[in-house]
Amino acid sequence: MIKRAVPRRAALLYFDCGFPFLQCPSYRLNFRKGFPVSQSILLIISGGIAAYKSLELIRELGRAGVKTRTILTRAATQFVTPLSVSALSGEKCFTDLFDLDDEAEMGHIELSRSTDLVVVCPATADLMAKAANGLADDLASTTLLATDKQVLFAPAMNVRMWQHPSVQKNVETLRAQGSVVLDPDEGLMACGEFGPGRLPEIDRIKSAILAALKPDTSLSGKHILITAGPTREPIDPVRFLSNHSSGRQGYAIANALSARGAKVTLVSGPVSIAPPTGADLVNVETAEQMLTACETALPADVFISVAAVADWRPANASDTKLKLKGGKDPVSMEFVENPDILKTLSKKSKSRPGLVIGFAAETHEVEKYAREKLRKKGCDWIIANDVSGDVMGGTDNQVSLYTEDDVEVSPDASKDQIADWIAERIAKALNAD
Ligand code: C5P
Repeated sequence: MIKRAVPRRAALLYFDCGFPFLQCPSYRLNFRKGFPVSQSILLIISGGIAAYKSLELIRELGRAGVKTRTILTRAATQFVTPLSVSALSGEKCFTDLFDLDDEAEMGHIELSRSTDLVVVCPATADLMAKAANGLADDLASTTLLATDKQVLFAPAMNVRMWQHPSVQKNVETLRAQGSVVLDPDEGLMACGEFGPGRLPEIDRIKSAILAALKPDTSLSGKHILITAGPTREPIDPVRFLSNHSSGRQGYAIANALSARGAKVTLVSGPVSIAPPTGADLVNVETAEQMLTACETALPADVFISVAAVADWRPANASDTKLKLKGGKDPVSMEFVENPDILKTLSKKSKSRPGLVIGFAAETHEVEKYAREKLRKKGCDWIIANDVSGDVMGGTDNQVSLYTEDDVEVSPDASKDQIADWIAERIAKALNAD
C-alpha cells in the first residue's frame, strides 16, 4: 500500500493544478503571533481584470492566520476559476445562488453571517451599485444585502468609471451605510489610461482587513503629527521650485498609525495620491505654511517629519509672470533658506513632542549623514534611506532607524510594510514609557 505524505486534498490539488506552494500546506499554520485562529472573512470576488490579485490576498491572509471563504460572481469566473480560489483558501468556493447543492450545504444567509468581516475585492462599479441600492439578483449581491457584518470594499475600475458621479454617489452611500470603501490606487491601468482606479496594493487591503478584524489600540489616545510630500516654493504665479517626493511613505505611515488607534494630523504638500483614511489632512504648499500648520497642530505626542521640504525659496517671488529678456546673459535668481521645520519643533522648549522623528534621504554615506542630522536637528530618531535608486516616487523602500546609540535596519519592502514597521516601533517606544 502507498502511504500518503500529504493529506489527500492537498496532494490532489497540487497534482491537478500545479500550485507549488501546496507542496507544503503548512502556510496555513503560520499564524500571526497573537492572532486568533478563529478569525475568518467572506471574500466576494467580482469580475474585473484585477480579480487575479485576490488570489495573492487569500494567500497573504492565510499567512496571517485568517480563514477565507469565497464567493465568485459570474463575471469573476471569467478571470479566475473556482478551483484556483478554493485551492488557495482551502475552502469550497461558492458561485451561484441557484445551485441547489450549495443552498442545501450553506444558504446565503448563513454564509453572510458566519464570518467576522465581508470583503469585496476587487469591487466593480456594478457590484458597488447593487450594494448601494439594495439589489439582490445573484449570490454576491444577495449576501451583501443579507449580512449583519461590516463590509469592506476594495474598488478597481477604469479611471473614468471611478470618477463618474454615479460611482462616487454609490461610494458615498456605502460609506454612509457604515461600509469601508478603500480609495483605489493611482497609476497606469490595464486599459492604458492613467489615474485613480487601480486596485489598492494587497498590503494595504490586508492591513485594512486586519485592522477591521482586530482593532489595534496600541496608539489610542496619542496625537501624532506627520508632514509628507514635497513643498512648492513659488517663483512667479505659474512657476515653482519643488522635488520628486510622492508623499507615499508619509501617507502610508499616517495610515499605519491611525490603524493603531492614534489621532493623526497629516500636514501635506501637494501630492496626487488618495487621502489617508482616518487622519486629519491639512493641505499646504510652501515650507512656511507647513511650519505654521505644524505649530498650530501642537501639542502632539510624536512628530514625524517625512516631508521633503525645499531647502530654499526664491527671495522675491514675482506677482506677475516673469518674461524672457531675450539676452545671452545667464539668468540668475536669489534664494533664501526655508525654516527647518524638524529642527524648530525639536528645539521647542515648551510644546516639544515627546518623540521627534526625522527622515534622511541620502545618496551616499547614509550612516554618517544620519548621525550628523540626529545631532544637528535635535531629534530623537532619524529614519534614513538610500535614495540613490528609484525610492523617491517609487513604491518600495528600505530604512535604517538611528537612535543616539543604536541602529535597526528594516526589511526591503513596500512602503506600506515599512510604514507598519515604523508604527510598530513607535507604539513600542510610547508604551515603554
Ligand atoms: O536637512 P535635510 O533636508 O536633509 O533633513 C531631512 C529631514 O529634515 C526630514 O525629516 C525633513 O522632513 C526635515 N526638514 C524640515 N525642514 C526643512 C528641511 C528638512 O523639516 N526645511
